[in-house]
Amino acid sequence: MTQDELKALVGQAALAEVVPGAVVGVGTGSTVNCFIDALASMKDRIAGAVSSSVKSTERLLAHGIRVFDANEVERIPVYVDGADEIDHHGFMIKGGGAALTREKIVADLADRFVCIADASKLVDTLGAFPLPVEVIPMAAAQVARRFRATYGGEGRLREGLVTDNGNYILDVQGLAIADPLGFETEVNQWPGVVTVGVFARHRASICLLGTPAGVETLRF
Ligand code: 5RP
Repeated sequence: MTQDELKALVGQAALAEVVPGAVVGVGTGSTVNCFIDALASMKDRIAGAVSSSVKSTERLLAHGIRVFDANEVERIPVYVDGADEIDHHGFMIKGGGAALTREKIVADLADRFVCIADASKLVDTLGAFPLPVEVIPMAAAQVARRFRATYGGEGRLREGLVTDNGNYILDVQGLAIADPLGFETEVNQWPGVVTVGVFARHRASICLLGTPAGVETLRF
């Protein structure tokens, strides 16, 4: 099976996690696009969605799925999103699609985070994928220096990219994140950091992993 076929497989499988009658949280990325397309088949059985990006909102609306502002909902039962890396504890690196800040906000509204990913995303230690960090533009160079001094990571600005929130993305290479919770807590303190792409406090509850043998469910 190709990677795209595995993404379609887990996008479809995630429908079983959606709570009928409720608002569902929707992430961002190519795997989530498969989920959104599948969700269209049950759009009359959900109240609507809360979206984590302009791109996902546009796709949801194109399918006729109602999109709520995050401020309109107090809790949602389930948030479905992809990941750039996920480890065996459900800790993730996210933000390859530059939507990490809104993704963490919607994840925070949710009782359960359902991660959908193809098998290439499963890792022992987070950090081989360059870590996305959303920064206030004027802090970009200082945050990059702090990564170098603290963790030996090399931060590069993602060229030409401005997030949905008007900020920049630093992609930090050369990390091996042994303690995701401690790392997230530390980097969150740095002035100018809006969101770090380590999802430890908001880790996955389950992962639907697309493998050539089918969908494997990892529970954390
Ligand atoms: C977007 C994300 C995505 O979930 C992550 O980049 C995975 O994307 P894809 O499903 O396209 O591989 O965090 O900000």
